[in-house]
Amino acid sequence: MTSQTKRAVIVGQGYVGLPVAMRAVDAGYQVVGLDVDDRRIDGLRNGESYVDDITSETLNAALQSGRYLPTKDYAEAAGFDVAVITVPTPLSEGIPDLTFIEDSARSLSAHLSKGATVILESTTYPGTTEELLIPLLEQGSGLTAGEDFFVGYSPERIDPGNKTWNFQNTPKVVSGIDAASLERVQAFYDDLVERTVPVSGTKEAELTKLLENTFRHVNIALVNELAIFGHQLGVDVWESIEAASSKPFGYMKFTPGPGVGGHCLPVDPSYLSWQVRRKLGQSFRFVELANDINDHMPDYVAQRLMVLLNRAGKALNGSRIVLVGLSYKRNTGDIRESPSLRLIDVLRELGAVIVGVDDRVEPHRWPAGVEQAPYTAETIASADAVVLVTDHEEFDLNLLAESPVPVLDTKNRVTGPSIERL
Ligand SMILES: NC(=O)c1ccc[n+]([C@@H]2O[C@H](COP(=O)([O-])OP(=O)(O)OC[C@H]3O[C@@H](n4cnc5c(N)ncnc54)[C@H](O)[C@@H]3O)[C@@H](O)[C@H]2O)c1
Repeated sequence: MTSQTKRAVIVGQGYVGLPVAMRAVDAGYQVVGLDVDDRRIDGLRNGESYVDDITSETLNAALQSGRYLPTKDYAEAAGFDVAVITVPTPLSEGIPDLTFIEDSARSLSAHLSKGATVILESTTYPGTTEELLIPLLEQGSGLTAGEDFFVGYSPERIDPGNKTWNFQNTPKVVSGIDAASLERVQAFYDDLVERTVPVSGTKEAELTKLLENTFRHVNIALVNELAIFGHQLGVDVWESIEAASSKPFGYMKFTPGPGVGGHCLPVDPSYLSWQVRRKLGQSFRFVELANDINDHMPDYVAQRLMVLLNRAGKALNGSRIVLVGLSYKRNTGDIRESPSLRLIDVLRELGAVIVGVDDRVEPHRWPAGVEQAPYTAETIASADAVVLVTDHEEFDLNLLAESPVPVLDTKNRVTGPSIERL
């Protein structure tokens, strides 16, 4: 069988799974896109993409190729050569919630046949592939991993909205439970991406992803805390960060902001600290500290906003606050775990009337009780104060620069008489 006719099943058609599915179609695979979410499957069948980096044109081309089947029916997975699991791995009350991996592994196992390869892509703690995924696949199929079928782990590195680094040109770390598994996993991704980076085991690959995100989380926490102290000390931290970034070696630029969001930074490091506590009984102090600082940034933004209003003789209570950009990241519509949500809660508790400006957020995810307004001079002028939370490219920042009302810029994107930087 050539790669042109191989059958790939991508379990989970979300922000990670859909791009993998589209790329696999492009590479000549016959692809089944499995998801349990009716709305997502119906949307995909109608050619509607909700993932920023996948255009509806790409999706429609995949559908028209006859090699992409979005479905809820696991029976369509029967006879697959490769299955990639890209289901959510959230935290439930601070603890890793692996039920999505468990459910999908059970469903998939019924359709696992000899010679097939199963790859986990969901972000998770080291050991998940061997300790959790394999037993479920073996139980459900009656087959033995390493003998009858192949298993590996490959972390996702998708960076939504990044126009330079996409799924195809970002190197992909690959691993297998043994040499034969690694060979299959690597061969699959060699068909999809420009460069694969093999590591010796699945635990190492699992840890790679957590290291990458913990590194980012900790460094963002560092500059966030620096921003708080810099403000109190009367030092322009943004200027120091810019200056430090001129160093061509040994420094990497991170910038402060209103907090961290999305599916990765607020969640992944805690998978690592949970595992360290569970297995070693120890506290991963860097992670705990970074969580503490980053989690409190929205509270700090609210506090700065109060000071800003106070200067104008106003209280937050009863004030109309316009939040510009609600998604967690520039140029995406993803509002999951966005710091704007915590900011909205804090401001609401203090009696503010909250208006949101962000056309990218999916309507069904729009935060309850937040009025939606377009990005116009009128919207800005109607506020008692504005917070620039997320600086999407479509926002004409001149409107903020000329704002008649105070603006708290959490991104250091605007200068002007009414602008106060974080
Ligand atoms: N979004 C990112 O930028 C990103 C980047 C790197 C890694 N990850 C990781 O990838 C994984 C998936 O994240 P995502 O952002 O794509 O999540 P998502 O919520 O966008 O998509 C996951 C999809 O899986 C589906 N699903 C849940 N249970 C299922 C089941 N039993 N069978 C079939 N489908 C099922 C859901 O309905 C959903 O559509 C997570 O572990 C996440 O941490 C995400």
